[in-house]
Amino acid sequence: MLSRREALKTLALSTGAIALSSTASTAQQALGEVHKLPPLGYDYDALEPFIDAETMKLHHDKHHAAYVAKLNQALEKEPTLASRTIEELLKNLDSAPESVRTDIRNQGGGHYNHTLFWQLLRKKENAGPQGDIAKAITATFGSLTALEEQIQAAGLKQFGSGWAWLVLRAGKLVVESSANQDCPLSSGAYPLLCVDVWEHAYYLKYQNKRADYIKAVLQILNWDVIADRYRQGKA
Ligand SMILES: [Fe+2]
Repeated sequence: MLSRREALKTLALSTGAIALSSTASTAQQALGEVHKLPPLGYDYDALEPFIDAETMKLHHDKHHAAYVAKLNQALEKEPTLASRTIEELLKNLDSAPESVRTDIRNQGGGHYNHTLFWQLLRKKENAGPQGDIAKAITATFGSLTALEEQIQAAGLKQFGSGWAWLVLRAGKLVVESSANQDCPLSSGAYPLLCVDVWEHAYYLKYQNKRADYIKAVLQILNWDVIADRYRQGKA
């Protein structure tokens, strides 16, 4: 994910001529586009048959794109927040100006949560958790199967739209759920793994069978990414 500074640097390099003659409105427009829709990183059908291509295309190109667009639109009201990364915005949600706090929570959360979700998925065979995170999972939950059962339960008990999470909270592994697009960053945790349990994530293929969809997601997790996040979170 591009930070705002990286995005501005890229923008400056690619539009140097424009920058020299930029007007205030052009600059504002540029700032308004700081938060970008990241690419999936794989084809829409890469996760078939676990997640179908049509769902991936709609989910990424329409739903995630809308969160990014609405976040950028909302932040135009508060130029002082233009230098904040999405992580900084969500971590400091309580101190955000009231005029944009709800949009950061909902649209910003939607942007961050989906960006993480795409990174966590891959169909390629992998050996599951290895190294330090494997030890931590065994120590905390007893086994990977027990962890998966807790994630499944968290996703199923979430009433309506939301997410199931594995997070680092006060240095400990914790499974929890959140409503809507609420992000654990805003309550002081570091997200390691998330499962989108909004109906838009599964209804085309799984209809009302949320349990089957969560089970499928658990089979295509990229444990290399989760292990990297565990190391970062512990550091
Ligand atoms: Fe979603």
